[in-house]
Amino acid sequence: MCGIVAYIGERKAYPILIKGLQRLEYRGYDSAGVALVNGSINSYKRMGKVKDLEEFVGDSSTDGTIGIGHTRWATHGEPNDTNAHPHTSMNGKFTLVHNGIIENYAHLKKELVNRGYDFKSETDTEVLVNFIENIYLEQKVDAELAVRVALSKVVGAYGLVISCADEKDKLIAARKGSPLVIGVGQNEYFLGSDASPIIEYTDQVIYMNDEDVAILTKEDLVLKNIQNDAQKPKIQKVELTIDEIDKGDYEHYMLKEIYEQPTSIMDTIRGRITMDKSKIFLGGINDEMQKLTTAKRIIIVACGTSWHAGMVGEYLFEEFARVPVEVEYASEFRYRNPVINSDDVLIAISQSGETADTLAAIKMAKEQGATIIGICNVVGSSIPRETHAGVYTHAGVEIGVASTKAFTSQVTALMMMAFTIGQKRGSLYDELYKQLINELTLVPEKIKTILEKTADIKDIASLYKDANNALYLGRGYLFPVALEGALKLKEISYIHAEGYPAAEMKHGPIALIDENMPVFVVATKDKSYEKIVSNIQEVKARNGKVIAVVTEGDTTIKKMADHVIEVPDCHEAIAPLLTVIPLQIISYHIAVLRGCDVDQPRNLAKSVTVE
Ligand code: F6R
Repeated sequence: MCGIVAYIGERKAYPILIKGLQRLEYRGYDSAGVALVNGSINSYKRMGKVKDLEEFVGDSSTDGTIGIGHTRWATHGEPNDTNAHPHTSMNGKFTLVHNGIIENYAHLKKELVNRGYDFKSETDTEVLVNFIENIYLEQKVDAELAVRVALSKVVGAYGLVISCADEKDKLIAARKGSPLVIGVGQNEYFLGSDASPIIEYTDQVIYMNDEDVAILTKEDLVLKNIQNDAQKPKIQKVELTIDEIDKGDYEHYMLKEIYEQPTSIMDTIRGRITMDKSKIFLGGINDEMQKLTTAKRIIIVACGTSWHAGMVGEYLFEEFARVPVEVEYASEFRYRNPVINSDDVLIAISQSGETADTLAAIKMAKEQGATIIGICNVVGSSIPRETHAGVYTHAGVEIGVASTKAFTSQVTALMMMAFTIGQKRGSLYDELYKQLINELTLVPEKIKTILEKTADIKDIASLYKDANNALYLGRGYLFPVALEGALKLKEISYIHAEGYPAAEMKHGPIALIDENMPVFVVATKDKSYEKIVSNIQEVKARNGKVIAVVTEGDTTIKKMADHVIEVPDCHEAIAPLLTVIPLQIISYHIAVLRGCDVDQPRNLAKSVTVE
C-alpha cells in the first residue's frame, strides 16, 4: 500500500514523479504529493488522485532535479490534505515519504511532545520524520546517521525516501518490509515501490533488501545496512516493458486483464508442458520435489482472491495427489499458533508477492521447519525471496485492483503442481494425467469463445445493475469460483454479495431469496450436477432470479434458469478456469453501469503491505 517514487539526476524531477505516481496509483489513491528540491524544498500535496495533485500544482514552480513523491492508502488518519505525504519535520530539516506502518509511533510521539514537538497530522509518518530530526539536532550527527539511528529504534515496516534541507544534493532511502527498487541510470537514480515508474528510463535495477539504507547523489550510490555495514548492490535487468503497463484501447485495466487471460494462462503454461503434452516440468520447484512428494500435509496460505485460488488448490491436491490440505487465511494462520511440522509443505499464493500477512505467515512456518513454496506473479518481490522454491505465474503486470488474470494463472500453476505431484506419488494414473495436461492446454482457446459472448453477458449485467444483494452458489471445484464471483462483484460495484456452497443455502441464506435476489449459480457438468440442479429449483421455488453458468448444450438448467451463460465442456477439475470468466465480465459491466471506478475501487489498494 502507498506508492513511492523519487528521482535524483539532471532531468526535471516533477514530470518523472507525476508519471511515476500515476503508474503507482494502484497502490493507493487517497492522496498524492511531491516535494521538489530547488534551493529550498517545496512540497505540494492533495487529497484525492494524482490528477487532483496536478490541478492543485497548476502553474506553480516545479523546477528541481531532485524530488520525492507519494500516493497514499490511508492507515493512520483519514484521507485529507494534512495527512497526505510528503511530511516535513517541525524545524524543516527533513522531508519524507513513507510506505508502511510505524507500530511504536504513539510511544515516540509522546517522547517528542515532551521535547516540545507539535504535530499537524494524525500520521505515524510525521512522528518518524520528527524523530529523525530530533536525533539529528540533539546528537549533532549527519543526516544519514540520524536516519540509521532512528530506524534502529523504530518498530514496524517502512519503505522511505528522505531529503534533508542541509544536504540537498542527496536522497536517503531505506527499506524494511515494504518494497523499494532503485533504478540505475547515467548520472541519475530513480526510486520506486516497484519498477513501473522506472522502466521508461532504465532497465537496470537494484531490489533493496530489508534493513538496507541507500545514500544517493546523482553521481553515486552507497548501499549499507542500518548497522553501517557496506552492502554490495546487485544490479539486475528488469524484464517489464512499457506496453505491459499501458491500458491500450481498453476503457479499463480490468477489462484489458480479463481479455488477456488466454495469453496469460498460456504464459503460465509456456515452457512447462512438453510439446507432445505428455509431461509437466516445473523447474522452479524441481529441487524440492522430494519434499513435495513425501509431504504429510500441504498448508496453503493466501489472502483474498489468492485464497480463493488456494481453495481450488485444496480440491486439486486432495483429489489427484491424495495429500491432506489446509487452506488458511494468512492473517489468521500467523496469529493462531498453528501446529507446523518439518514434513509440512506450505504453499504461499500471492499476485503481488508483497502481502504483509502472507509474508509473515511464510516467515513463521519457515522458522518452524516447513518447506516453503511460492506461487507469485511479481518477479523479485518479497515473498519469492523468502521461499525455498516456487512457481512464477508470469501472468504479466496486473494493474486493475480487482484481480482477474492473476487468479486464473494461480489456478493454472496449482493445477500443474497438483498433476505433477499426483503423478509422482502414483495417485494420478498416466492416462488421466495426460488427459488433464491436454485439457489444460485447450483452456486459452476455450476462454476466447467465452470472451466472444461479452455482449450477451453485458445485457444480463444491465438487468441486475440495481440489485442491492446477490448470492453466488457453486459446489466442489466451483464453490471457490462462487466465492471469487461474489468478491469481484462486491469490491468493484459495492453490491453486497455472498458466495456459498450451494447445499449450504438451505441452512440460512435461503431466507434472503425473493424476487429481487439475483442468484448466480456455477453449474457446469460434474459429479454434483444433479444436486445443483435441485438447488436451482429451490431458488426458483422462492422466486429468486437465477443466472447460471452452464456447460455448452445444457438443456436442463436452461429450462429453469432466468439466464444461462454457456462455457465449453471440460474436465471438472479444469472448470474453475472457464467458469470464472463470465463472472468477472458480469461484475465488470455491472460496476461500469453503476458508474463505479472499476480500476480503483474505494478504500482498496492493489498491494496490501500492511497487516
Ligand atoms: C481481490 C484482490 C485481493 C488480493 C489480496 C491478496 O480482487 O485482488 O483480494 O487477492 O489482497 O493479494 P496478493 O495476491 O497480492 O497477495
